[in-house]
Amino acid sequence: MRGRRVRGLFRDLFGGEPASVWHAPGRVNLIGEHTDYNDGFVLPFALPLGVLAAVGPAPGGVLRLASAQHPGTPVEVSPDELRPGRVTGWAAYPAGVVWALRRAGLPVEGLKLLLDGKLPAGAGLSSSAAVECAVGMAVDELYGLGLGRARIAALARSAEAEFVGMPCGPMDQHASLMCTRGHALLLDTRSLVHEQVPLDFAADGSALLLVDTGSTHRLVTGEYATRRRDCEAAAIELGVPSLREICPAELPDALRRLGSERLRSRVRHVVTENERVVRVAERLRAGRPSAIGELLTASHESLRVDYQVSGPQLDLAVATALRAGALGARMTGGGFGGSVIALAAGQALQRMVDEMLAAFARVGLPAPSCASVAPAAGASRA
Ligand code: GLA
Repeated sequence: MRGRRVRGLFRDLFGGEPASVWHAPGRVNLIGEHTDYNDGFVLPFALPLGVLAAVGPAPGGVLRLASAQHPGTPVEVSPDELRPGRVTGWAAYPAGVVWALRRAGLPVEGLKLLLDGKLPAGAGLSSSAAVECAVGMAVDELYGLGLGRARIAALARSAEAEFVGMPCGPMDQHASLMCTRGHALLLDTRSLVHEQVPLDFAADGSALLLVDTGSTHRLVTGEYATRRRDCEAAAIELGVPSLREICPAELPDALRRLGSERLRSRVRHVVTENERVVRVAERLRAGRPSAIGELLTASHESLRVDYQVSGPQLDLAVATALRAGALGARMTGGGFGGSVIALAAGQALQRMVDEMLAAFARVGLPAPSCASVAPAAGASRA
């Protein structure tokens, strides 16, 4: 059973059983990158890998936070003292969720919490949202708050944006909580209305390879915030509430009205990417995931050239996949490092993995980790 190890570790560390254990997955974003803070469309699916959070009540109202991946004395803090900047590193994510719940006026006091997970951090697979969502669901159950997934997604996002300080959009937390097995989640980030779109690569004779390039970027948060500001500045110049309001037919005129080449390229990415998401969703609804390749590759080019959030390892993985016969490939997640997805005709998968390993070895890079992935379930009790 999924929660056995974390229960055992919880007993060893804190004595006694956890009252509630939840698993929340990481995600792969199939397409719709850097659109979620522009009120646009995204299309992620959940990975089988994620994070487990085991929680129990703590006498004395103290917050005791531990992680199997960061052994040592638990981080202790009084819930009254929580404020942005007070807790840093891995513990900021669970502490941030408690902070967000309390700020919303919810009666959350002390608790013992243990995290355990195999999801690599910094791989563009949304390990931070997995932590926040597992903690949110476990604490919701422990305190009988009855919040529901949509509210927990919003609180988890505010923990990340306001407590941790990463000004993310709503995609990752929604993916971790709302995704269902065998589907991608088409999320309209303006209305938060979502649709479960069937996604079965194998049934269409294809497979999706996930390549974690092992590269992370330490300036990600700063670069991410800069892109966000560019989009906000462009929306103001264009007199719209968000770039979502610009449809493809209006793009040429919008580009003419913008004063800088940098803003023009950011807007071009966001408008064309929203359109690509809509077209990918149409093909998936028609049961044709093998037909989305060109749209994946076009997304990568747009992110590389116009949005400038790719990186050398990501470009190497995409180029290698395409050379090895991929139907399409793109970086996934925030960028600058992290992971790539490549769509392969089923029988071409192994050759693609071999060529990927060879290409990284040739330039002296550590071997990337490669696995074929399919849509798994969102957060669940473990
Ligand atoms: C990160 C953020 C998301 C989203 C992506 C880019 O994963 O957390 O909200 O903006 O980057 O698509």
